Amino acid sequence: MDHIKTVFSGLQPTGNVHLGNYLGALRNWVKLQDDYRAIYCVVDLHAMTIDYDPADYVRERHEAARVLLACGIDPKRSLFYFQSEVPQHVELSWILATLTPMGVLNRMTQFKDKTERGGTANLGLFAYPVLMAADIMVHHAQLVPVGDDQRQHLEVTRDLAERFNNRYGDLFPVPEALIPETSARVMALTDPTAKMSKSDPNMRSRVLLLDPPDVVRRKIRAAVTDSEPTVRHDWGDKPGVSNLLEIMSGATLRPIPDLVDDYGDGGYGRFKDAVAEAVDEMLHPIRAAYAELDEIDVAAVMRDGAETAKASAEGFQRQARAAVGLANR
Ligand code: TYM
Repeated sequence: MDHIKTVFSGLQPTGNVHLGNYLGALRNWVKLQDDYRAIYCVVDLHAMTIDYDPADYVRERHEAARVLLACGIDPKRSLFYFQSEVPQHVELSWILATLTPMGVLNRMTQFKDKTERGGTANLGLFAYPVLMAADIMVHHAQLVPVGDDQRQHLEVTRDLAERFNNRYGDLFPVPEALIPETSARVMALTDPTAKMSKSDPNMRSRVLLLDPPDVVRRKIRAAVTDSEPTVRHDWGDKPGVSNLLEIMSGATLRPIPDLVDDYGDGGYGRFKDAVAEAVDEMLHPIRAAYAELDEIDVAAVMRDGAETAKASAEGFQRQARAAVGLANR
């Protein structure tokens, strides 16, 4: 078993899961279950770092878990649980915080973005990347499937693993990000210079995994493009069309040059219809699986997952405690 690598990744439960999450990360999560020890987590402590509604939170957490199961996270092949139910994450996060220079966190672009958009600069938001490092390291994970926006956070994780190993002796693997070649950064449909994001107030900016077919079509038909109606990939001059090409390539697994051959001169209407159809075809089985899932079963999966994850994380965490001198004589 020892040679099998461990994969870890997480998703925040506030806001609905969208196409960017799926193409950038979740699809890889599902794929990696076949060949690795896979561990996936609804990171409910992370989502508390920005304004959220506690009254809605129970439902939102549950909803996120259900959508991930519908995407194909299979509790028989992977460990799946809520972050808050495994306290070792927070304990390791504290240990790592004592190794984290403030300057490293000061450079984080997500912290800057979120506070510039009106979020409170609270300590939790500032320390977000440290908890993320702990999520990964508490399981000794080596591979982390994420979208392009998590690159910088992964660098912090690698840095903290190295700092720990240098200070206390070799304990943690230095993990690698696994980022897809296309659609690693899906842009907003309403503004292709901004990332598709759960927190954008404009619902037309993103396709949700559970959007019905007519809504998918309407959102994609309305996607911002440009006035020169040639379909080609050029982020500088044609960010809207490039985004749609990436989405279609992600959805169909066809290379972008092939799509350009097929749709180059056919006009934007025809191209957008094809993109909408490809996305809808990809989402159809997810919607169907979601409808099939029973709420009680989802809760049971999460409960069992937390128990197993706690036991597994505790095994590693005991070593970390001992390494830093937190052991009784
Ligand atoms: P979150 O919840 O924002 O997003 C979940 C995953 O979706 C990816 N993603 C995107 N990919 C492509 N295009 C987009 N527009 C897009 N938007 C989001 C994200 O890169 C992510 O992989 N910090 C993480 C959660 C986290 C985590 C972890 C991830 C906490 N601990 C440990 C990996 C390992 C986040 O904000 O995800």
